[in-house]
Amino acid sequence: MQKNYLTWVEVNAGKLSGNIRTIRQLAGKRLVAAAVKANGYGHGLELMVDLLRKEKIEYLAVHSRDEAERARRQGWKKKILVVGYIQLSELEAVPELGLELTVYNIETVNRLGKLAEKTGKKAEIHLKVETGTNRQGVEPENIEMIVAAIRKFSQLHLKGVSTHFANIEDTTDHTYANYQLAEFNKIVTKINSLGLKPPLRHTACSAALLLFEDTKFEMVRPGIALYGLWPSKETYLSYRLAGGSNSILAPLLTWKTRVIQVKNVPADAFVGYGCSYRTTAPTKLAILPVGYYDGYDRSLSNLAYVLIKGKRAPVRGRICMNLMMVDITDIDGVKLEEEVVLLGENGQEKITADQMASWAGTVNYEILSRINGDIPRIIV
Ligand SMILES: Cc1ncc(COP(=O)(O)O)c(C=O)c1O
Repeated sequence: MQKNYLTWVEVNAGKLSGNIRTIRQLAGKRLVAAAVKANGYGHGLELMVDLLRKEKIEYLAVHSRDEAERARRQGWKKKILVVGYIQLSELEAVPELGLELTVYNIETVNRLGKLAEKTGKKAEIHLKVETGTNRQGVEPENIEMIVAAIRKFSQLHLKGVSTHFANIEDTTDHTYANYQLAEFNKIVTKINSLGLKPPLRHTACSAALLLFEDTKFEMVRPGIALYGLWPSKETYLSYRLAGGSNSILAPLLTWKTRVIQVKNVPADAFVGYGCSYRTTAPTKLAILPVGYYDGYDRSLSNLAYVLIKGKRAPVRGRICMNLMMVDITDIDGVKLEEEVVLLGENGQEKITADQMASWAGTVNYEILSRINGDIPRIIV
């Protein structure tokens, strides 16, 4: 029996399949590693595993040991690439869970190498190289040293070499991305000249996959596109300017809750903490059981709106920890436990993650990934 949730997230399976068709078209014959880190970009890791199992996806890309373990527990039998970090003391997880690990520290190579020799089980690693993001990655001057360390261990297999772009989604000027790509190619040539030929080169996040043929190599790692969103307006614009179609991606996620009280307040009444909103006329409010703890950002106070009966209900006063208030004066017939859309479509109206992100001064990635992981996720 379907549980009658108070607050929940719906994920549309059909739209995911459509986005995957788009990704597969863009990827051609290359392998696809679906980025499901950050709780499947807020869609729910377990739910995403259930859905992706049925799709033609070769790898999951997760951040941590914990996410990898959750994916395995949920029945993901195919490959898992860990793109974050696993502590030296936890590296046993690599053989135990059958993971492929992104490495960029000599300490990790040595510890995993010894472990692989001891167990006699091959460990597959992907070397992440620094090309100008200055996040994770082996600096060019240390490539020789790390390759020598990898070669010392017969049970370490350099399966991949990767990098991540710094400035591919936030701009229509792609000079820096091209620079990073050239750096990547130089480093790969160097690795080859040192005697290692990793079969998988991978650099492409969603923006790269959408815009740059040269970044795709043997594998791509899309995240946000999987969830039906564009990495940025600039990516969308660049894609359209290059002749791309408008409707290749569809958002999957709808975030819903229910009204927990309807009340009338007089004119000149304050609403919420800090008395930041004051009514100018008799007003009908709906109280909702969602606040910043749930991932509804406090910066949306007095700014955003939600959808009830297909109409916009403006947020009044400050977003609280677990509650918020919206104005339903002009929406007739709202009852206790009426369904409310916080994010997604309702009738002719919709609130997108992009819209919310622009209100909150952030990016759609953050809006989605911060929806509290305790909120139930259901497939529709
Ligand atoms: C290493 C790595 N690869 C791929 C992705 C996917 O990026 P996007 O969601 O922009 O496609 C991410 C996300 O941040 C990442 O960190």
